[in-house]
Amino acid sequence: MTLKLIFDVALLLSLWSTAGCDFLMEGVLQMECHDRYFMIALDLSATGTDPRFEAVDGAGVHPITDAYAAKCGYSISVLPFLGLVELRASYFSCHAEKKADDFVFKFNLVTNYNGVEAFYALNKSCSPPLSWSPREVTCEVNYMEVSVRSEYPCPAGTNDWNTLRPTQSTSTSDWQVEFQRPDEQLPPMNLSQALKLGYMFDLLRGRIVFRTPYGQHESYSAGVNGVPVEVVHATIFSRKGWVVLLVDLVAACSMYEGSYDSGYMLWSTPEALYASYNRTQISVGLNGHLMEPAIAEKKGFIMERHNSTIKIGVPYNADGGYRKSFVSSGIFEFYIINLYLKQTLVDEYHEETALRFHRTLVSPLLPYSVVTEDRTVKADGVFTTYLEVPEDVELTSVQLNGKAFKVPFGDNLAYTLAEAVNLNNTHSYTLTVPLHDPVVIQQFSQENAAMFHKLDVNYTLVAVPETEPYYHKVSVMVLMDVSPPSFKTACNASGISFELAHRSYDYLWDISIGLAQLTLDLAAKRGYVMSNDSNGLLLYVPLFTQGYEYKDISLKGFLGTFEVLVKSHDTLKILTSTVKTCPFNSTELIMCSTNGWMTVVADLSLVLPHGKIPTGTHLSNNLCVAKEKDGTRVLYSFPLNSCGSAVKLLRGNVVYQNKIYYYFGSANSTEGLTLQCTYPLTGLYSLFSAYRFESDKDGVGSIIYPIENTKGLPSSTEPPAKPQTTAAPQRTRSPNLYLPSFYPTARYIKVSRTHGLLGSYKGIKGGVQVKQYPQI
Ligand SMILES: *[C@@H]1O[C@H](CO)[C@@H](O)[C@H](O)[C@H]1NC(C)=O
Ligand SMILES: *[C@@H]1O[C@H](CO)[C@@H](O)[C@H](O)[C@H]1NC(C)=O
Ligand SMILES: *[C@@H]1O[C@H](CO)[C@@H](O)[C@H](O)[C@H]1NC(C)=O
Ligand SMILES: *[C@@H]1O[C@H](CO)[C@@H](O)[C@H](O)[C@H]1NC(C)=O
Ligand SMILES: *[C@@H]1O[C@H](CO)[C@@H](O)[C@H](O)[C@H]1NC(C)=O
Ligand SMILES: *[C@@H]1O[C@H](CO)[C@@H](O)[C@H](O)[C@H]1NC(C)=O
Ligand SMILES: *[C@@H]1O[C@H](CO)[C@@H](O)[C@H](O)[C@H]1NC(C)=O
Ligand SMILES: *[C@@H]1O[C@H](CO)[C@@H](O)[C@H](O)[C@H]1NC(C)=O
Ligand SMILES: *[C@@H]1O[C@H](CO)[C@@H](O)[C@H](O)[C@H]1NC(C)=O
Ligand SMILES: *[C@@H]1O[C@H](CO)[C@@H](O)[C@H](O)[C@H]1NC(C)=O
Repeated sequence: MTLKLIFDVALLLSLWSTAGCDFLMEGVLQMECHDRYFMIALDLSATGTDPRFEAVDGAGVHPITDAYAAKCGYSISVLPFLGLVELRASYFSCHAEKKADDFVFKFNLVTNYNGVEAFYALNKSCSPPLSWSPREVTCEVNYMEVSVRSEYPCPAGTNDWNTLRPTQSTSTSDWQVEFQRPDEQLPPMNLSQALKLGYMFDLLRGRIVFRTPYGQHESYSAGVNGVPVEVVHATIFSRKGWVVLLVDLVAACSMYEGSYDSGYMLWSTPEALYASYNRTQISVGLNGHLMEPAIAEKKGFIMERHNSTIKIGVPYNADGGYRKSFVSSGIFEFYIINLYLKQTLVDEYHEETALRFHRTLVSPLLPYSVVTEDRTVKADGVFTTYLEVPEDVELTSVQLNGKAFKVPFGDNLAYTLAEAVNLNNTHSYTLTVPLHDPVVIQQFSQENAAMFHKLDVNYTLVAVPETEPYYHKVSVMVLMDVSPPSFKTACNASGISFELAHRSYDYLWDISIGLAQLTLDLAAKRGYVMSNDSNGLLLYVPLFTQGYEYKDISLKGFLGTFEVLVKSHDTLKILTSTVKTCPFNSTELIMCSTNGWMTVVADLSLVLPHGKIPTGTHLSNNLCVAKEKDGTRVLYSFPLNSCGSAVKLLRGNVVYQNKIYYYFGSANSTEGLTLQCTYPLTGLYSLFSAYRFESDKDGVGSIIYPIENTKGLPSSTEPPAKPQTTAAPQRTRSPNLYLPSFYPTARYIKVSRTHGLLGSYKGIKGGVQVKQYPQI
């Protein structure tokens, strides 16, 4: 399954090409002479899709196909995920040319960019660094090769050894080959026939070479201590008369596929594939480079002999190994190791056999857990998530609560994504998203009476260069205390408006004006204009409605302040208050405060003879004069009980009355306007105490124009039924600012009562008679 997957990957990746460049110029080519083979390594990204090789010798150009490679001693491995193509050519490969002590390799590399082929001639000359053992066996990935020293004298009359060379063989060659299997002896055949079957026999540098692909019909399997072994046993012989020349050629290789266990790639081969007199020597390495056993051990390689089997263990992440991530409904990783093993055996005749193995070990797909960490610090005001992935896994996009953003982010986003490369072959992405960003889901938690800020991050990861996406989801959450609402406010000439956008958890709070909770009823009763729809709450409080406080009253204008409170629904504790103060123009107004002051701005022009401006004005008590005057306009502010006010009880109300008089020159004063404050009796605590006045409610003020003297009022035969009232109920708490210019002396109010004591009038209706107060 693993291998199958790898091949799928290979297939996929073989379609992958990057921008072309002249790789010979770029120096991405590597040609190396190894102990027993010549190697060319190419960067796949430089060679384009599907590079091909051709072997070149004096006889011509020979395309290296799979079958031809196995027969002629070439191995081509493609490691697409590394972008690497490697060609290995045996020194005994068909088209290596021998020049003196050297082997000369010539190849054509054929690259293909978008259908355009290019040829590159490569050549290199190698002199094998080591002397050759009497018998050398190479177990390549696609063939087995045996070479034996042949220093035997040629028996007289036999054909020259050269006739072994198939290319040079003539019909006179009488070399025969006989394949043997344990249970049967196959009929002999001549070398031409063997060649046709894919075998290769050769004579080179005094060595007889035999090469066979794996899986030949004449091969057989031999299990040695549980390790599968493939063997091809060929005997070549030449018979001339009574002389028979016979060479036994056995190619045997461990076919163990490799396994993976606890972080090790394991591989085994029988200790004595060939006759061995004493212990065999082994050295191991990766990618064709052998190591001293001590060094290998230091690097964590395991070399054990067990039950006549050599067991090799390579740490999966050994230097020189390859690692690749793979996406298939999950992130997996696998490791590929090009194991190179040399085994030296000595038989009882002290003849040495050197065995070399090239084996590609592939680990199974190992599940890889993406590392994520929630690194959010609430106080920073941002979500911070950390993602760590292997270096060949890339983040291509993220979905934040389902909204997709390509990576890297544009500059106009409020989010950041920082990438860092780690030393341990991983890299990491740190994503930040502000806690209050619109993309963050905010959900009220009734249980916690707090707000959940929730962000689902769906990372799209790909294992490059593939494109199969893997989605990794992370949810981060922060619990934030909820803040009570605050209003947007606005002034206009006739009132103040308060505006509030609804939030889902608004039921946590009550809105109130003073002590009274704001409801549609309250609004209607007090004359507020309120709308409360799905968008939000809009409250408009017209000037002079209940709840206002006034300050800095002058003829020019005054300040009106209105306060809206937000209280906890459960504890009724005041959480926030929105106080708005606006300037208003004063034309005419009267205020009857709960603490017993009357404040009036009045215009006498309606009652004055046309165009005349009075010398002065005063109240009933002529010592009480206007605090401010401006032509016909006057401002008075005085305690209800003072300045000669009259008090009357009228249908459950107590009514305080005073008048504004005006005069010209030294002439007697003329009665101008009547000022009146009416309080419901039930609301009064101490109506008749001399110095204190307290009311639950503001009084209702009226400015009454005398009918006869009034000019400019509608002159109708019908007497006007109602006095002109300019101001609605008001309330003020700042009388001190407007202490009158005099301090009235103590006043006494005589009352005749039938019940109770003074000061106990609260709640009593009727049964109270108050005589007309004595004027001062
Ligand atoms: C071998 O390659 C070199 C360049 O690497 C070139 O100069 C030389 O001519 C080539 N020789 C042959 C015989 O192709
Ligand atoms: C090899 O054997 C085949 C079949 O027996 C025969 O046709 C062929 O001529 C032989 N070749 C040589 C070189 O003897
Ligand atoms: C040694 O190999 C033989 C043959 O495969 C097997 O039966 C035996 O259990 C092995 N012994 C050990 C200790 O592995
Ligand atoms: C095996 O025997 C040969 C010849 O006696 C000797 O040279 C070699 O060192 C021995 N190898 C081991 C591993 O003992
Ligand atoms: C890789 O390195 C980073 C940074 O040094 C570290 O935070 C992380 O834990 C390491 N990951 C693994 C899997 O060791
Ligand atoms: C992540 O996004 C992908 C692509 O839109 C989607 O198919 C997948 O269901 C998402 N995963 C989760 C857990 O939401
Ligand atoms: C002030 O605003 C309220 C509410 O929007 C509106 O009804 C009223 O007419 C406005 N008054 C003036 C003078 O603009
Ligand atoms: C406004 O309406 C919402 C529901 O639509 C209600 O929960 C809220 O109490 C109302 N606010 C006021 C002040 O009436
Ligand atoms: C008061 O009246 C003056 C003059 O009519 C005007 O310019 C000013 O805007 C008014 N102020 C307010 C608060 O209505
Ligand atoms: C002013 O009033 C007093 C008493 O009411 C009166 O005696 C007097 O004649 C009046 N003076 C004028 C100029 O009317």
